[in-house]
Parts: sequence; C-alpha cells; structure tokens
Amino acid sequence: MNLPDLKVARNRQATPTEYVNLELDIKPAFKGQKYFLRTYGCQMNVHDSEEIKYYLEALGFEACEKLEEADIVVLNTCAIRENAKDKVYGYLGRCKHLKKIKPNLIICLAGCLMQEPHEIDELKSKHDYVDIIIGTHNIYELPKLIAVHTGKQNIEVFSNSDKVFENIKYSRDSKVSAWINIAYGCDKFCTYCIVPYTRGRERSRKMENILEEVNYLKEKGYQEITLLGQNVNAYGTDLKLGYDFATLLENVAKTNIPRIRFVTSHPWNFTEAMLDVISKYPNIMPYIHLPLQSGSNAILKKMNRRYTREEYLELFRKIKQKIKNVAITTDIIVGFPNETEEDFLATLDMVETCQFDGAFTFIYSKREGTVAATLEDKVPKEIKEERLKRLNKVVNKYSLASNKRLLNQVVPVLITKVSEKDETKVCGYTDTFKLVNVDAPKDLIGKIVDVKITDAKSFSLDGVLNQKI
Ligand code: SAH
Ligand code: SF4
Ligand code: F3S
Repeated sequence: MNLPDLKVARNRQATPTEYVNLELDIKPAFKGQKYFLRTYGCQMNVHDSEEIKYYLEALGFEACEKLEEADIVVLNTCAIRENAKDKVYGYLGRCKHLKKIKPNLIICLAGCLMQEPHEIDELKSKHDYVDIIIGTHNIYELPKLIAVHTGKQNIEVFSNSDKVFENIKYSRDSKVSAWINIAYGCDKFCTYCIVPYTRGRERSRKMENILEEVNYLKEKGYQEITLLGQNVNAYGTDLKLGYDFATLLENVAKTNIPRIRFVTSHPWNFTEAMLDVISKYPNIMPYIHLPLQSGSNAILKKMNRRYTREEYLELFRKIKQKIKNVAITTDIIVGFPNETEEDFLATLDMVETCQFDGAFTFIYSKREGTVAATLEDKVPKEIKEERLKRLNKVVNKYSLASNKRLLNQVVPVLITKVSEKDETKVCGYTDTFKLVNVDAPKDLIGKIVDVKITDAKSFSLDGVLNQKI
C-alpha cells in the first residue's frame, strides 16, 4: 500500500525527471467480462481514461453501455471543485448498491481526487467496498492490480512526480481527433488550485517523442491533434535542451497534420515567438483558450496569477492583431475569498472589453491543502451565486454574438462524429473551435468539409453542406 502525502506532492526539488519506457505484459485473463468506465474532469483525465481503456481491453474486458452489466467499474475522478467530488461520491453510491447484488464486481477509483490524503482516509473508513485505488502517477499499475486482486482493498497512490512515461498505449475514443500529452503537472501554484498537488511537478516530454507520436497518428489517418498541458507555454522549461513551446509547435506544424490545437495557455510567458508560429502555419488553428480568472488586480495578486488586467489586455490585443480571425475563450472564477463588488465589476468590465467567444465560469470552491483555503471568507454563498448569474448573462451575450457573426458564412468544419442531439446529423468543429451540427451523411466523419452556417445559438451552430460530395 502507498498513500498520498500533500507535503511530498508540494515538493518541487525532487530528483531529476526519469524517462521510463513502459513495457507491460498484460494477459487477457478476463475475456468475456465487461467494463464500465466513467470520466470526470478535464481533457487530461479524458486522455488518461484512454490509457485506462487500453489496459482494460488488454486484460480482455469489453466495454458495456450500462453500469448494471459491468464486471468491473472504473471511475476516473476530478478534484478541481467540490461539485466534481460530489458527483463521484454520488455515482459511487450506485456502484455500492450494485455490488450488493453482484458481489464479484470490482470497483476501481483513479484520478486526481485519489491524490488527496483526506479522500483516501474517507474511502478507507467509509467505503471499504472499493477494491482498487490508484493515483495519477501510476495508471500503468492498474492492469497488474486488477490481475492480482484478492478482494481486499488495495491503495496504491504515489505523491512523487519524478517520472515521464513513454510508449504508453491508448485505446482512443476517436479515429479523427487525438490528444497528445506534451507536459505533465503544473508548477504555477495558483492559490485556489489543487492541480499542482494532484498532478505533481511540471515535466515535459522530449520533443522527439512527441513528434514521433504526431507522425504515428498522422499515418493512422488522424486529422487533428490537441497538445495537452496544464500550461503549454511552460513546455520545455524543465528540459533545458534549448527548445520551448514555440519550437515544438513549429515542428508539429511541419508534420503537415491537418489541424493542430493546444490547451491550456497561461497568459504568463506567452511569447511573441509562439504568436509568430501560430500565425505562420495554417494548420495551427486560430483558437486560444486564455484563462483570465479575474479582472481585478487585487484578486489576481491573491490568486498568484502573475499578471495584471493590463498585461492580460495587452496580450489579448496582440493575439487578436497577429492571428487572423482568432477566437479567444476563457475561464473565470467568481467569489474568490473576500472578492468585493468592485472586484467583481472589474471582472465584468474585462468581459465587456474582451467580448470573449466563450467562457467557462465557476464559483470559487475551497480546496483543502491550497493556500486560498487558509483565507477567511466573508462573502455569503448567495452573493457568489448572484455574481455568477450576472457574469453568465454577459458571457452568453458575447458567445451568442460571436456565433451569430458566422451566420450565412461558409466555414471549414472537421466532422468528428454523429451528432449527440440528432442521430440523423453529424457534428464537428470550425477552425475556431465552435461546435456545428451538420445535415450531412455519416461517411463524412473524418473529413474537413465546407459548411454553410444556417443557425447560431449560444453554445452551438447548425449548418448544411456547401460542397458536392
Ligand atoms: N491549467 C489550466 C486549467 C486548470 S483547471 C489553467 O491554468 O487554465 C480549469 C479551471 O478551473 C481553471 O482555469 C479555473 O478557472 C477553475 N478552477 C480551478 N480551481 C478552482 C477552484 N478551486 N474553484 C473554482 N474554480 C477553479
Ligand atoms: Fe491550476 Fe494555475 Fe496550474 Fe492552471 S496554472 S493548473 S489554474 S495552478
Ligand atoms: Fe480535475 Fe485533475 Fe483535471 S483535478 S480538472 S481532472 S487535472
């Protein structure tokens, strides 16, 4: 048994990063059995779940649609806000109930929530029916732990984050668009955020390995890749090999894979060189997710965001100026401890000024172990909820306006799958990452087609094919 420790997780002075080539021998001992996998949280977790899926399938399990059919269930958890945690425990209740009827059901928990010592304490004391618990640093151990499982709760969570694994196998959700990790962890320590603790210190993959993966996916027919990092601008800093995110991006663009995206860009250390590369290569999509978090300098400082509203605006304008038809989206938190009405109005003002193409908005959620969790907070919940509503009204006004600007225009859309809303349609994304439901046949999945936009809502567009097929 290995248990998580926040003190160890906080430590950034650990040993140099070790690059490990994963070579696992997984026997298909569970043929004929079924797995059910549920993922919470960000793209990073979605991609980790593709690794988990590979392991489950290598063990012989087959995916099932309903929890009730499962012989093994894996919940890949998120710790970013309290409601992410509540969802996990809510679902765990269903799993517990199922285990009463199916005593051989194996329940596994993975992901960021498992990196938190107090969660592990709770699982040990109140949820002893959970069979296997792994953390974010040892997903590769899952097949071994399942294979040797005896029925006794087994917890294997590491706090040290000094490794980067190569040769990880994935069972990818899409044959069109793929995630690629470029860096793990985060060293920014925004005071509200749990990620630097749950994902460990910032570690970059070596450029040659990333490029190899891009080329491999391109040969397999992938049309789009998204480079993943909590803070992509910081890519390469830890490697000290003389290259950075701009270098990586340029080399990825040169592979000629049709579409390249990346998330997330931190407004701090977003360099001119990065902007130059993005604007130079047409296969780098004109879309940037640039979290603002707050428009108040006082709050930004307390958040340890390392920029002022003026610096954010300067970067924002530079991006708009350099990248043709760029779309910029953001993340905003309301109700950081002791946020005043004036602070909040400064945030609203930034939204009015930037007119974001879209924004994810959140009420601050206290995360145990972070610096902000030690601050006394006098702002009542009702005020925070009211601020969120006011913010969403403005945010939605601009995302609708941004979508409406596309009405009657013809834009290239990469068709990725059957539409979730209407099975007779397909859907995909514009280069600016707007979701479009298209009246077109399924055999266009995987193709970039010209679509005429016929309707624009706040969160999606409708369109029809504007070319012969
Ligand atoms: N690394 C990325 C994303 C981190 S998590 C970045 O820095 O942008 C995604 C978003 O969740 C953050 O941008 C932030 O807006 C929000 N978030 C993080 N911690 C939070 C907390 N404690 N309460 C509410 N929102 C939070
Ligand atoms: Fe969290 Fe800040 Fe790191 Fe993003 S940059 S993951 S918000 S600590
Ligand atoms: Fe959640 Fe972990 Fe992502 S906390 S948002 S799954 S990095």
